[in-house]
Amino acid sequence: MSLLLFDSGIGGLTVLREARVLMPSHRFVYVADDAAFPFGEWPQKELRSHILELFAGLLENHRPDIAIIACNTASTLVMDDLRKAFPDTPFVGTVPAIKPAAERTRSGLVSVLATPGTVKREYTKELIRSFASQCHVRLVGSRELARLAEEHIRGGIVADEDVLAEIAPCFVEEGGRRTDIVVLACTHYPFLANVFRRLAPWPVDWLDPAEAIARRALSLLANMPARPGGGDIEEGEDLAIFTSGNPDFAVQRLMNGFGLKIA
Ligand code: DGL
Repeated sequence: MSLLLFDSGIGGLTVLREARVLMPSHRFVYVADDAAFPFGEWPQKELRSHILELFAGLLENHRPDIAIIACNTASTLVMDDLRKAFPDTPFVGTVPAIKPAAERTRSGLVSVLATPGTVKREYTKELIRSFASQCHVRLVGSRELARLAEEHIRGGIVADEDVLAEIAPCFVEEGGRRTDIVVLACTHYPFLANVFRRLAPWPVDWLDPAEAIARRALSLLANMPARPGGGDIEEGEDLAIFTSGNPDFAVQRLMNGFGLKIA
């Protein structure tokens, strides 16, 4: 069976690596819409039509058994539209892990670190109303972190103070209580988790939903019959597709390290 994973850049690889562990015999097509990176600053209407248009071609060309939107900025906006437009393809989305954070916090102070797009979404606000009304949730929209994560994973130099400036608003102290959970609500951020841990003013849980997303995909696939003749992927070959058509050398090397052949 084949899975298509979609993100604006390399962030979805944090989901891919968990999916690979759980589904080692499935094939993966990784799509990085790098021509449109970053999604975080796009106006909602334009981003929605852009993704729907792109998916028409992607699903036609690759016919995956399942598509994982490994991007919070896209998932909080277009999941319903994708399901409506492409009813034959099951979709798994990646949305801020606000429910598990609300269940686990002891202090009641939770922060959600995400792109400016994700923190603005009605979907995100609804998650808070539905699952975390008893908590104090701080939404932190970061303009820079997705780009810094891309830089970091390419082997570039990322200054501590630049990262600290982005994560500092997550740390709240109030009435003798402190934030104890930060939700990583952008798939790029787990690549910086060690840097976050080192720079954090106090220890917190950094909640990464990647494994839960992979589990959800696995459970959907487990209940699905294989589609006859689906896909153009050769036996055993995992692919990476870049909408720019032109990933730089560092990214090509990264993809090869993940066992993906650039299509
Ligand atoms: N990785 C994406 C997410 O999970 C967004 C990065 C971007 O701004 O493009 O939200």
